[in-house]
Amino acid sequence: MSWQQYKTQWQTQVDARLDSWLPKDSIKPEQLHKAMRYAVFNGGKRIRPILVYATGQAVSGSEAMLDHCACAVECIHAYSLIHDDLPAMDDDDLRRGKPTCHRAFDEATAILAGDALQALAFQIMVRGKDERVFPAQRLEMINILSMASGSRGMAGGQAIDLAAVGQPLNEAELENMHIHKTGALIRASVKMAALCGDGGDGGTADLSSEQVEKLDHYAKCIGLAFQITDDILDETSDTDTLGKPQGADRALNKPTYPSIMGLQASQELAQTLVTDAINSLQAFDTQAESLRGIAHFILERTH
Ligand code: IPE
Ligand code: IPE
Ligand code: MG
Ligand code: MG
Ligand code: MG
Repeated sequence: MSWQQYKTQWQTQVDARLDSWLPKDSIKPEQLHKAMRYAVFNGGKRIRPILVYATGQAVSGSEAMLDHCACAVECIHAYSLIHDDLPAMDDDDLRRGKPTCHRAFDEATAILAGDALQALAFQIMVRGKDERVFPAQRLEMINILSMASGSRGMAGGQAIDLAAVGQPLNEAELENMHIHKTGALIRASVKMAALCGDGGDGGTADLSSEQVEKLDHYAKCIGLAFQITDDILDETSDTDTLGKPQGADRALNKPTYPSIMGLQASQELAQTLVTDAINSLQAFDTQAESLRGIAHFILERTH
């Protein structure tokens, strides 16, 4: 199967699993559950779940636990986007070609939908019973996800982003912001999945520490490349293709890679990072083909 076929299969798979985890619209409080479903099932690329499954493929990970990791990280991501779009943050009206959650519902419901999705993510991890994964490994996965979501991960990166509006950041400061607000969850997706590896002890016993490091380096590089591409697309794409307002960063005076180093240098940097990521997978054979595919996809994506 080609990596594109896997991508489609994994998108379908995570959608089905998410559907079973999210409370139905008909369950009280209906409005909150509707908003949670609205934010999760509205056309996301599912790049983080795909990364979980692709890493799982590279390390022969346990399918059942990969499903839990994939759903949990996507719930955190969906929550982060709901809050990112709020008037107090980026104040965006459009997400994935539709009104943002607080526009489709109201601000209070959107805040609560984000809160509830975050809690659901951890419930999904706690309930991730899998005989091939020891409880200690699962606890470590939960630790990874919580660190990546919190003040020293995504939420911290968002705080840096808000404080940086109108500020002349240097490249190191911008990199630090991107690594946190976007890179952390991408890195966590790979790290959690690596712990689903087929090692008898339910962990990464059959991966050398060098292989674990290489996977982490891959994840760090594509995480940064992903947000650089997001910044580039905000400049170069159009609202219809993006499904979110083109030029929003410039309008809000956000420091971005194109605003700091120019478009071409940003594109070259993203390319260099993706090449570095792919080189980091040399110790893996054809089982890492999907991870290589994802790295290319990050550069080629149009939205
Ligand atoms: C958008 O993430 C926000 C960033 C962290 C750059 P995605 O581009 O993964 O958004 P969806 O889920 O596919 O809409
Ligand atoms: C969002 O970054 C990062 C998150 C943690 C959600 P952006 O603000 O650039 O994401 P978009 O462009 O609104 O999707
Ligand atoms: Mg933002
Ligand atoms: Mg935004
Ligand atoms: Mg953006």
